[in-house]
Amino acid sequence: MSARWSDRQQAMLREMGVTLWLPPTPAEVPVPEAAMPEPVPAAVAVPVPVQAPVPSPAPAPAPVRMSRPAAVSTEPDPPSVPRPLAARPSGVAAMDWPALREAVAGCEACGLCRSRRNTVFGVGHEQAQWMIVGEAPGEQEDLRGEPFVGKAGQLLDNMLRAVGLTRAEAGPEQQVYIANVLKCRPPMNRNPEPQEVAQCEPFLKRQVELVAPKLILAMGRFAVQSILQTGEPIGRLRGRVHAYHGVPVVVTYHPAYLLRNPADKSRSWEDLCLAREVLRQAGG
Ligand code: URA
Repeated sequence: MSARWSDRQQAMLREMGVTLWLPPTPAEVPVPEAAMPEPVPAAVAVPVPVQAPVPSPAPAPAPVRMSRPAAVSTEPDPPSVPRPLAARPSGVAAMDWPALREAVAGCEACGLCRSRRNTVFGVGHEQAQWMIVGEAPGEQEDLRGEPFVGKAGQLLDNMLRAVGLTRAEAGPEQQVYIANVLKCRPPMNRNPEPQEVAQCEPFLKRQVELVAPKLILAMGRFAVQSILQTGEPIGRLRGRVHAYHGVPVVVTYHPAYLLRNPADKSRSWEDLCLAREVLRQAGG
């Protein structure tokens, strides 16, 4: 236990993804020069009565600046030994719901497993006609193990309500299924890394196969770019119908983006209307 952070504070900082550098032990603390003893002059000149020229004493060696020996260690830096990663569970492509849920809960295939509190699998109707795909859990989602429960989630709920949909219990026409591209929270909500997306993608693919939705609404740049395998911005992808493993995909802005850019809510509304039209044409 460190004198600077209580156990509870350390736990909270860890939860926020803040790496703790604990204060060094006294032996490692460099001593400020002001606190060091004054250098002792190597020789003190004593007046000598002049008798005969006396060879001057050898010049005193320059006072040596004293520095405390650093706490030298021959060992490499103390290892913040990360838990070794494991291979993604095999057989994801053939899993049923319980097996898939369990595989996600135990996944240690990328470094996000080290900082997550909970995996965030997905919620909703397992035969929903609409599937919503977001990017990755944030802090609230990580704590609760459920997607879109923070502020962005409230806006998502409002958007869904506007087109007659809900995440609450209902039939497969009204109740959506919500999942993210990543099942674990990136620390400090940083952008997902490509290898994290690659490791997690089979889980989403299997969820899509099991739900077999009539439409996927992909929300936000990362979700859109990951599932459509493109680097194009949302602005260029909106307004048309794409596909993910044979399922029609409509793309729109992420609710968190809309909270910061409310002027784009009207575009998002257009996207929802397009999605509804696609579904209507598909007989939904
Ligand atoms: N943003 C997402 O993309 N997904 C969530 O679950 C929460 C916020």
